[in-house]
Amino acid sequence: MTKFEVRPAPARRSLILGAGVLALACALAWTPTFESTGFAGVDDGPMHDGMESLNRSFRSLRRAKGDLAKITEGAVGMQKAIALCKGETPDTVAALEGDARAAALKEYRIQMIELMKESLNLERAALEGDAEKVQATIRTLQGMQKKGHDQFKKDED
Ligand code: HEM
Repeated sequence: MTKFEVRPAPARRSLILGAGVLALACALAWTPTFESTGFAGVDDGPMHDGMESLNRSFRSLRRAKGDLAKITEGAVGMQKAIALCKGETPDTVAALEGDARAAALKEYRIQMIELMKESLNLERAALEGDAEKVQATIRTLQGMQKKGHDQFKKDED
């Protein structure tokens, strides 16, 4: 009775091995530069996506015209987006080295923490129905956006 070959013949085995090595080399060549906490050096990475999402939530709650349920929802959307951005390294920081880089990353993280705290204040003010505090908090958030962008966003962005 014919015994079927279950293992690949030696020639086919080396072909499979070669294809595997090639696939691995391609995967490595396409892998972007990683920082310890995320990407650096790519225009449409998690930082870009997170900021776009932050912008959508912030815009939606500014247009909510006193609808406190929508403002609460927008504030929670902001918090999710801030959590995404907070662990990333802006390109402007990744371009620095040594102590300057460490100091800039620390400053970025602190500003993102403050942004998160203010978005929580906004959610609370909306939940408590304090329309005046909602407006004041939105103004504070706008100031934080300007400060963060002046300091960390590339001019052409
Ligand atoms: C309400 C607050 C904020 C809003 C709505 C907002 C919105 C945006 C938007 C729409 C972009 C452009 C997205 C892009 O093209 O990449 C952006 C980019 C950026 N923002 Fe913000 N931002 C806010 C706060 C901040 C703060 C506080 C910081 C820093 C502490 C910051 C740092 C950056 C940086 C570094 C980029 C460039 C991202 C990239 O590499 O693509 N942002 N932000």
